[in-house]
Amino acid sequence: MFLCIERAINYKPQIMKTIEIATPIEILSFDELNEIEQNVVNEAREATRRSYAPYSRFNVGAAIVLDNGEVITGANQENVAYPSGICAERVACYYAHARYPEARFVMIAISARGTDGNEIDHPISPCGACRQALLEYETIAGHDIAVLLVGKSEIYRLPSVKSLLPLAFSDF
Ligand code: THU
Repeated sequence: MFLCIERAINYKPQIMKTIEIATPIEILSFDELNEIEQNVVNEAREATRRSYAPYSRFNVGAAIVLDNGEVITGANQENVAYPSGICAERVACYYAHARYPEARFVMIAISARGTDGNEIDHPISPCGACRQALLEYETIAGHDIAVLLVGKSEIYRLPSVKSLLPLAFSDF
């Protein structure tokens, strides 16, 4: 038994190939964004005010630009049965697609205010479940959805949802 464990620890498998997946992240100030980006960032920031988060007191807002020109927002909605709550990103993307099923997503911005009520300095990034949900809309759009992660002092711009969720599960 001892020998087996030793062998497992020192086991050096032969590796056929190693690949690395890089996520490009541009870091910008609000002033460096174009008009559409500034507008969606403002919408996401405003949406944090409509968060219902009495348990975490962490207010998240998301805003999605659609190719029909509409901007749909969502905010996290919590529940006394904690797991029943839902993140801002899924509120926004499920509502957007329920409201305009024919429209394609173009861009999403995500903003948050911390327990002190102030906008967070550095951006947050969507949870795994939200990445998976958003990826579905990127897939059906047939093009990348730009992602803006909003902090007070800096904004992260990513080219797509799939850059946030490499090696995602997909059955199609
Ligand atoms: N939350 C979001 O709405 N989006 C995120 O990207 C991360 C977390 C919410 C869930 C919960 O209501 C609160 O923030 C604290 O986790």
